[in-house]
Amino acid sequence: MTKGLTRAIYPGSFDPPTNGHLDVIERAAKCFGELIVAIVVNPQKRSPMFSLDERVAMLKECIAHVSQARVEHFRGLLADYLKEAGADVIVKGLRVVSDFESEMSTALMNRELSGVDTFFLMSDAKYSFVSSSLVKEVFFLGGDVATLVPKPVLRTMEHKRTALSESQ
Ligand code: PNS
Repeated sequence: MTKGLTRAIYPGSFDPPTNGHLDVIERAAKCFGELIVAIVVNPQKRSPMFSLDERVAMLKECIAHVSQARVEHFRGLLADYLKEAGADVIVKGLRVVSDFESEMSTALMNRELSGVDTFFLMSDAKYSFVSSSLVKEVFFLGGDVATLVPKPVLRTMEHKRTALSESQ
């Protein structure tokens, strides 16, 4: 398979997208012919703070400069979506050793279910502590996250904070 024909899927909750996500997207797009950033509609672990529409809009704006990448979404099993999308590989970012522990079993399960392998990119060291959940916690408690998320995400978070405070 040549690079030009390789369709990669980068799945995630993206609730919200961070600079760590964007860094993985920019680097993965250089490795594969086509990169689909696939937002899971209903993450198992929690209900998302940002609606699907908000997450799609944020990601689209953040990756507008990455010509090989586009944003899609899926429900249910990633393995089913991989088949539907005709994916050749899954892309994941690894920040710290604890990520590896959970990602290894997930990668093996996805290969068992779909035959699709997972390619891991090491996160840039400067984003190794950045997660969507920490970013949300810090931001909504009044902390500055401007260096941790892309500008369109910061703007959406500020709108969300204003809307939440007006509804209380
Ligand atoms: O950004 P996240 O929350 O770490 O992404 C996790 C995600 C969406 C990649 C994972 O939860 C997933 O693939 N969900 C789809 C449901 C599924 O296929 N579960 C079995 C995984 S082996």
